[in-house]
Amino acid sequence: MNAYPRSATANAGANIALIKYWGVRDATLNIPLNDSVSFTLDTTRTTTTVTFDPDLPADELLIGGEPAAPAATERASRHLDILREMAGVSWRARIVSENTFPMGAGIASSASAFAALTVAAAAALGLSLDTRALSRIARRGSGSAARSIEGGFVWWHAGIDDATSYAEQIAPPEHWDLCDIVAVVEEGEKRVSSAQGHLLAESSPFLETRLSLVHKALPRVREAILNRDLATLGPIIETDALAMHFVMMSSQPRLFYWTGATLDILKAIERWRDEGLPVWFTIDAGPNVHLICEANHRDAVATAARSLPGVRDIIIARPGPGATLV
Ligand code: DP6
Repeated sequence: MNAYPRSATANAGANIALIKYWGVRDATLNIPLNDSVSFTLDTTRTTTTVTFDPDLPADELLIGGEPAAPAATERASRHLDILREMAGVSWRARIVSENTFPMGAGIASSASAFAALTVAAAAALGLSLDTRALSRIARRGSGSAARSIEGGFVWWHAGIDDATSYAEQIAPPEHWDLCDIVAVVEEGEKRVSSAQGHLLAESSPFLETRLSLVHKALPRVREAILNRDLATLGPIIETDALAMHFVMMSSQPRLFYWTGATLDILKAIERWRDEGLPVWFTIDAGPNVHLICEANHRDAVATAARSLPGVRDIIIARPGPGATLV
């Protein structure tokens, strides 16, 4: 171990899925039921330093300077176990993590957190891994973290097992100046985590319908991204976000992530489009709405979003780089 750096720092972005991951084939390895497509975000990022220390009795996790909840520390510790086993190391680690965005602001921090943790810990342990290997490991911490290893526009191949489930870049961040303007309507922690939600997907009678729509949508989404064609992309991503929420709402037990403000924003977006503003939406496992538009309409969309009574805050992001060592 002495030869290794022992300590390393990495930075990774959250990502917004255009075709969503919802439902797992294998919940331990986070092998999803369907491929998904996202872009990695530039402003909503996590920086994590991992230091392996022979004198530490247990792994420690600090987020924003505060000791993390036991469940979060335990989840990070299990993730480090994967990397420790690969390196043949048993030392415990201190993990110090900072987000550029508030936790519970409607941006899932698990993707950027597990991507940064994977890259930092691998480097600290002296493991030299390519992006595919890093994506496979990050996936085991949080499914969507597989996509945050790569920058720009990213495709996660669902695969059928650990070796075949990883993310790849479709196009670099500078390919297309797309914006994600998050209309934050609620800042609390979500009531049902994605991990629990993925397990409920199979109980929805609409799951098969959504999966068949996704299979048709995926090649069209790739084309639209490569052609920078938001008029084609927009309706497809809205239909997929709605289809995912129909699966959620029809699961047993039901998952209602929306609030009244969520629906108000969806109706406002239709109105703005009718008035000539090209903006479309997607929604993750929460009530906040992600408004997707091109950079030349960013200010108009941000102003329009801010004017809605239910919107408490907005966060603006663009395609950003993948996970990197600092
Ligand atoms: C709705 O990656 O948060 O945001 O694998 O349990 O950590 P875990 O789930 P997570 O699920 C993300 C679900 C989603 C859609 C998406 O990002 O594709």
